Amino acid sequence: MDRETYIIGNWKMFKTSTESVQFIEKIAPLISDSPSHVYLSVPFPSLHSSVIAAKKHHLVIGAQNMHDQTEGAFTGEVSALMLKDVGAKFVLIGHSERRQLFQEDDQLINRKVLQGLKHDLKVVLCIGETLKDRKQNKTKEIIRDQLKKGLNGVPKDITNFIVAYEPVWAIGSGHAATKEIAQDVHAYCREVLSEQFSKNHAKKIPILYGGSVKPENISELMTQEDIDGALVGGASLHVESFEKIINF
Ligand code: PGA
Repeated sequence: MDRETYIIGNWKMFKTSTESVQFIEKIAPLISDSPSHVYLSVPFPSLHSSVIAAKKHHLVIGAQNMHDQTEGAFTGEVSALMLKDVGAKFVLIGHSERRQLFQEDDQLINRKVLQGLKHDLKVVLCIGETLKDRKQNKTKEIIRDQLKKGLNGVPKDITNFIVAYEPVWAIGSGHAATKEIAQDVHAYCREVLSEQFSKNHAKKIPILYGGSVKPENISELMTQEDIDGALVGGASLHVESFEKIINF
């Protein structure tokens, strides 16, 4: 495969700034030889200290969300410029918890994608179907819709961009998608991406799998043609399990 691989930890609302630094100091020496890019999306208050702790290590720090405007009267929100200024290199957009618990729709997610790209943050666009969608045989329809709407108006030669396919039913459930199910959807994502961009360009876009990735299932997921890495929640909170996933 000519694509590079990525392992991204998503800490969600876990770890104080102090705990984040302790984690980074512990894991950094264990992952220096990993052939994958290793990213950590940390809570906002951990960003600055994590960027400093990760400096000179094989570890890139980013955020889990941001606002869709550059600045303004939006109490409690954080902008792309603020993320950039503290050294964040990437941002997750459209995670299913943002979609479900914070009512983020595809239009808002699209504005955030455009905003992130405009400010040179690498955008990790998260998409995925619910169990209900899957049972109703709507997985591909949902995936197509989320990709098309999320990517509305982005440049044809988009770089600095990653897709994370995370079936909602697999997130935090302990039951990952099988490698066959994941590969099937990843290949479909690439097909949709090649309609939007070009076939050649779509081939270069990394597509990560997320949802109950663990040390026990990472190797087999990574054998699949269109799986270019993983977005890891629960198992990224512990040095032992995250290190095993990174060095799979
Ligand atoms: P999980 O979470 O690995 O705990 O299933 C993945 C995610 O929400 O990104």
